[in-house]
Amino acid sequence: MTIEAKQGLESRAIQVPPSITRELANAAMSVEGLIPLWFGEPNIPTPKFICDEAARSLAAGETFYAEGLGRPYLRDAISSYMSALYGKSIGVDRIAVTVSGGNALNLAFQSVLEEGDTVVTLTPAFPNLLSIPKLQGARTITHALEVKDGKWSLDVEAFLETAKGAKVVLLNSPSNPTGFMLTKDEIARIMEVLRERGTWLISDEVYARTVYSGKAAPSFLEVSEPEDRLIVVNSFSKTWAMTGWRLGWLTLPPSLTPVVEKIAEFSIASAPPFSQRAAVVALEQGEEFVAQMAKNYQHARDLVCNGLLAHEGVTCPVPESAFYAYFKVDGVTDSIAYARMLIEEAKVGLAPGDAFLVGEPGWFRLCFAQTDEQLNEALERLSPFLAKAREIA
Ligand SMILES: Cc1ncc(COP(=O)(O)O)c(C=O)c1O
Repeated sequence: MTIEAKQGLESRAIQVPPSITRELANAAMSVEGLIPLWFGEPNIPTPKFICDEAARSLAAGETFYAEGLGRPYLRDAISSYMSALYGKSIGVDRIAVTVSGGNALNLAFQSVLEEGDTVVTLTPAFPNLLSIPKLQGARTITHALEVKDGKWSLDVEAFLETAKGAKVVLLNSPSNPTGFMLTKDEIARIMEVLRERGTWLISDEVYARTVYSGKAAPSFLEVSEPEDRLIVVNSFSKTWAMTGWRLGWLTLPPSLTPVVEKIAEFSIASAPPFSQRAAVVALEQGEEFVAQMAKNYQHARDLVCNGLLAHEGVTCPVPESAFYAYFKVDGVTDSIAYARMLIEEAKVGLAPGDAFLVGEPGWFRLCFAQTDEQLNEALERLSPFLAKAREIA
């Protein structure tokens, strides 16, 4: 008997849909020899110089609660890192350390949303981006990216039209799952219009450093003033291969920082102090690692996209950033069923497009943050299923 039947529960938590990818992955736990390319994380452990700093901190007894907004030395380090990256001063009074990017998103929405507000975002989208506001009683509206000349593209004016009347616009550039990236001009135009309208913008920039050219993706921080209604979400997860550490941060208008401090107390209290010590080292000594990872991802992107595009029935808009190939297989009418079949027959785990809030069947996401050996093996295994979509029951 389900919990809602048993307890008469109809809470938003019961109603919000579960993660499709997580469900598939759980069901495939026992499939031997599977190459799992469904989750989005680097395939290598956190660099040793970062782990060593956490070990030193633990050995020194840094095991107590920390400040709600984060340890002062980490907030200072984030402020310096962001100021250097974007060439403008981003004050420490705007920084709140969080327990992951996911937690940062929750705190951002909690800070500005009221019951019944509308949140507008782009699809395909990382599903949590909309589950979080839904959990808080918001109405969500989506606007689809288009594929033009083999690339994802956005009609900015049409999107701004869709966003009219919204309380919050949520953007994720660079994007999971498409690797789509807004240009600096697009960012400037969106900021200008939303500022005029007084709309809040939550900008998820957790893939800001996973770019194949230049140091970072264009950021809304570059075209904004401190008191703009802008909240930027960042994370240590992807850039420094720290997914398991659960550490992120928010850049806020200074007047919102005390609000985040207040509500963070009710859930996280503080981020772990030893992780925060290690995070400082990641920010201050991690540039060589970050640059190397970007090169590796570009190489893997080329390998995977070329491999996929060799099949006539495959459409694969080439991603400009992040570490996902988001592609379509002609003839597939049910992506979830096809992904299940691929687990059993090809022994490759892909995330079906349905997980990213798209209606059109046939799309899949493959995370290419992997070794060449694994990627080549996966492409070979997938090959018979891409040439022409197989009939499935
Ligand atoms: C777009 C986006 N935002 C936020 C997150 C959350 O990252 P984390 O909670 O590991 O910091 C992810 C993770 O996949 C993501 O893809």
